[in-house]
Amino acid sequence: MNFSDLAEKTRSYRRFQEGRAIPSEKLREMINVAGFAPCASNLQRLRFSIITSEKERQVLFSGIGWAGYLTDWIGPEPGKRPSAYIVVHAPEEEKSFTGIDVGIASSYIVLSASGAGIASCMLLNFDRGLTDSIAPAPGYRQELVIALGYPAETVLLEKNNEEIRYWRDENGVHHVPKLSLETLVLKG
Ligand SMILES: Cc1cc2nc3c(=O)[nH]c(=O)nc-3n(C[C@H](O)[C@H](O)[C@H](O)COP(=O)(O)O)c2cc1C
Repeated sequence: MNFSDLAEKTRSYRRFQEGRAIPSEKLREMINVAGFAPCASNLQRLRFSIITSEKERQVLFSGIGWAGYLTDWIGPEPGKRPSAYIVVHAPEEEKSFTGIDVGIASSYIVLSASGAGIASCMLLNFDRGLTDSIAPAPGYRQELVIALGYPAETVLLEKNNEEIRYWRDENGVHHVPKLSLETLVLKG
């Protein structure tokens, strides 16, 4: 698969095959790939926690806000929840560009997952207190959570669509609109 196809396929999924575990080596490989990402001054300050145990997944799940635009949906039902999470940590002491580094590293993780047939969703709407209780990292903050699992839904990218809000159709297919190239390019 070429990179453009991989990027198109790498959508945010929110329903997973909860009972199908992701092998530990695959999760660790995603973090290995994140370690290859560019970062400001090559400081490599980010750290990662892998959450797979059922108990810890339940705790983390209870603090997540899913799909803000789908106002009549509270999130995946039991059996469709993520089978793993990766928590992205950054040092507590403030430094410039941390957020950019988090975004790039997280992109490497979700692209790497997608290449292995694993679906993901980056999450900022999570309970940091709960996450800290299961993935304590003294001296680090939790910047982002990435939900992972084998997909249990269809997500389609809608090209050249000037909408912002994603939607789910009557068949449960999730549609994600993306702006046209003409809109994106200001010059050139
Ligand atoms: C930084 C960031 C934070 C996000 N936080 C959440 C979140 O808390 N809950 C959620 O359901 N989706 C979250 N998403 C997923 C976005 O809703 C999703 O990227 C967007 O709808 C576009 O869909 P796509 O990823 O398939 O292109 C987040 C995505 C990013 C990049």
